[in-house]
Amino acid sequence: MKGAKRLWLWFIGVNVALVGVILYSAMAPGALTKTMLLPGETSHGHYQIEMRCDVCHTEGNGIREDACLDCHAEELRLAKDTHPSSKFNDPVNAEMLATLDAQSCLTCHREHVQEQTLEMGLTMPSDYCYHCHQETLESRPSHANFAFDSCATAGCHNYHDNRALYENFLNKHASEEDFLAEMVGLVRPEKTPVFTAPNKNTAGLAAENTADISAEITADAPETFPSDPVILEEWASTAHAAAGVNCSDCHAPLTVSDTSTPNQPSETEPTWDAAVSHETCGRCHEQQLETFLQGHHGMRLAQDLSPMTPAQARLPMHVDAAHRELDCNACHTGHRFDTTFASVDACLTCHNDDHSNAFLQTSHFQAWQSELAGDSPQGSGVTCATCHMPRLEDDDGEVWVQHNQNANLRPNEKMIREVCMHCHGLAFSIDALADRELIRQCFGSSPSKHVESVDLAQSWFEEKERQKEARRKKRQSK
Ligand code: HEC
Ligand code: HEC
Ligand code: HEC
Ligand code: HEC
Ligand code: HEC
Ligand code: HEC
Ligand code: HEC
Ligand code: HEC
Ligand code: HEC
Ligand code: HEC
Repeated sequence: MKGAKRLWLWFIGVNVALVGVILYSAMAPGALTKTMLLPGETSHGHYQIEMRCDVCHTEGNGIREDACLDCHAEELRLAKDTHPSSKFNDPVNAEMLATLDAQSCLTCHREHVQEQTLEMGLTMPSDYCYHCHQETLESRPSHANFAFDSCATAGCHNYHDNRALYENFLNKHASEEDFLAEMVGLVRPEKTPVFTAPNKNTAGLAAENTADISAEITADAPETFPSDPVILEEWASTAHAAAGVNCSDCHAPLTVSDTSTPNQPSETEPTWDAAVSHETCGRCHEQQLETFLQGHHGMRLAQDLSPMTPAQARLPMHVDAAHRELDCNACHTGHRFDTTFASVDACLTCHNDDHSNAFLQTSHFQAWQSELAGDSPQGSGVTCATCHMPRLEDDDGEVWVQHNQNANLRPNEKMIREVCMHCHGLAFSIDALADRELIRQCFGSSPSKHVESVDLAQSWFEEKERQKEARRKKRQSK
């Protein structure tokens, strides 16, 4: 009798659970039902946003026409794409499309087909260059013995981005030393405060929590707010206070009209919000916000999904960081906004792969320690951020920090011009980036690979020069 009762209870339990699951998937169409419809695992580049089927798919599950270019056009433009679809509108090249439709991204980048997906979302065997470039093997004696699956291997050519690999560039930088005479990158200028605090409606805000700071600014946190000496001290000693950015500039709640104009706490809204969102930071740091939203750290926020967390990552992460949310304050913690901490220590609170962990043993890290100690010039150190969030110079000569850590990650030759060539020669940089084992050790020793492209380019130009010279001599002797 007892057994039957237990069976019944079990039966009821299972049914309740089942109904629960069905109800849940009906009520929360986001998660469960959507993943069930996925034909296979989504690629490394997109799995974070796979829940947003609609950014790529039409209602009928086709692919939206401009989906890929909506998000990637700018990147390919900056990469000076070697094979844009416009190249194939030219009748001379158009016939190539008969064998391989290079005007459609999907020819080479399909989705949810994990078993045939290579690096960078490539779903095409890597020897296809053959279809259009057969003649190269004939016209270039040096290439006669090359296999077609080697064209696009590290260090030789890329399909889209050849900014550091085209012949004239290779030749021009052929004779550079491995270590340049002057090894310094860009320096972030000491900013003189440029921010003028908007005319704030200070209703509800009182000048109670006074902190003694040079910029003669008084903290404007609400009177009822228990003044926290640590926060006051941290805020008062940093660029924000110096620039006149006050508590309320970050902590007054955003209202709809605030998102485009400087902060104006309204009288009807509450005047304090303890949580500060990336959008608040972005009102004053537009470029940083925009680029942050483009990479793996911010791409979920860009699609109105919950923030990325280490728990959702496919790369190895520290277990105790699993539920930390990727927002601006993931790296800019506390009220110090300490860029030294953000450049290495912050990264290592989450990242836990061989490459990241090896960094502290490298000569790059030593160079950074030496810069911090004041023993070598500013800009001579190398941090995680030097490579992954490089300082860039915009058209007005203004130095700012790229916050999309995927912008130069793959193919990794994107790092050459932006990063390595501040300090190293081109050939050395190409060799180092083609060496997977060296990357795993975070560049802790010299490259053990040698890519021939610089040598080939140099001898190609020398040969052309010799031919020209011979023709000139011939003409002269006539
Ligand atoms: C980043 C873009 C992207 C996102 C996001 C995305 N997909 Fe896809 N999906 C693709 C691409 C590209 C293909 C391949 C189309 C092709 O081969 O013609 C595809 C193929 C499919 C197919 C197979 C269709 C067929 O005709 O073979 C299904 C089913 C599918 N996706 C479902 C989903 C669902 C469900 C979601 C959301 C949970 C989703 N996809 C999210 C890009 C995406
Ligand atoms: C909603 C915006 C969005 C759409 C739509 C989208 N992508 Fe992406 N894609 C991203 C982001 C964000 C990344 C990750 C950051 C990066 O690698 O630049 C990415 C990464 C990639 C990568 C690099 C993968 C890697 O592992 O390095 C490729 C290739 C790519 N996308 C191709 C496509 C193609 C082809 C389509 C059209 C089917 C497409 N994307 C549609 C946003 C998008
Ligand atoms: C004929 C094959 C082919 C086609 C067509 C193609 N790609 Fe690629 N794509 C590649 C290869 C190969 C890579 C790997 C890196 C490389 O060689 O440039 C790549 C890499 C990428 C990347 C990674 C970052 C980068 O800059 O290389 C993105 C993003 C990308 N493709 C987007 C697109 C989009 C968007 C389209 C359509 C407009 C497209 N691709 C069409 C072959 C192709
Ligand atoms: C669908 C045909 C097609 C495919 C496939 C193709 N290419 Fe090309 N490629 C072209 C065309 C067309 C040009 C432009 C030629 C020109 O302007 O003289 C070009 C130009 C180039 C250039 C620049 C040459 C220069 O000096 O301007 C490089 C490098 C290159 N391709 C490499 C590759 C690699 C590597 C692959 C394979 C990953 C590949 N291509 C696949 C059609 C193709
Ligand atoms: C540049 C923007 C910025 C300024 C200026 C700023 N804060 Fe904050 N504050 C933040 C951020 C970011 C957080 C963390 C919020 C979160 O975790 O969501 C925070 C959190 C807090 C918290 C709650 C969390 C904690 O650490 O206990 C208090 C209290 C606080 N701030 C007080 C102040 C006071 C007082 C001032 C002025 C002296 C001030 N803040 C100025 C950005 C700012
Ligand atoms: C009301 C405008 C404003 C807001 C809101 C704001 N900042 Fe700033 N921030 C500034 C100004 C002005 C400077 C100093 C000049 C500069 O570096 O551009 C600055 C400097 C910085 C610096 C450089 C510090 C240094 O030591 O060089 C960081 C990092 C920073 N802010 C991050 C943030 C983050 C993260 C948030 C959001 C939590 C935020 N800011 C919110 C105006 C603002
Ligand atoms: C992955 C870590 C990380 C995240 C997330 C991050 N930052 Fe930064 N940020 C850094 C590092 C590292 C530096 C300093 C790099 C250097 O000195 O070269 C920096 C520098 C800055 C600076 C000063 C330099 C400049 O660009 O003028 C500002 C302002 C800034 N960040 C704002 C933001 C804002 C706003 C967000 C959120 C949208 C954000 N950061 C998110 C790591 C991060
Ligand atoms: C709060 C945790 C956290 C912090 C802090 C953090 N990251 Fe990340 N990072 C992540 C997560 C999560 C991903 C996404 C991993 C994935 O998609 O598998 C990621 C992705 C990346 C990627 C892209 C990897 C790829 O294969 O596409 C790079 C590069 C990276 N982070 C570098 C850094 C650097 C440099 C810093 C410090 C300036 C940093 N991260 C700080 C959690 C963090
Ligand atoms: C000298 C430049 C350099 C430095 C310094 C550096 N990295 Fe990298 N990192 C690279 C290169 C190159 C790659 C490989 C990109 C590729 O080819 O996929 C890489 C890859 C990564 C990846 C992606 C790994 C994967 O498997 O997809 C992460 C995450 C990362 N780095 C984080 C960090 C962190 C955190 C630090 C500091 C502790 C750091 N890196 C220091 C150059 C650097
Ligand atoms: C700001 C300058 C700077 C930048 C940028 C830089 N490096 Fe270095 N690199 C150095 C210094 C300094 C050393 C140590 C030289 C020495 O030992 O005398 C070094 C050493 C190396 C070594 C040899 C390590 C050893 O212990 O033998 C490799 C490999 C290397 N760098 C690769 C790279 C690559 C790849 C990039 C670009 C992604 C890069 N570096 C960017 C300054 C830089």
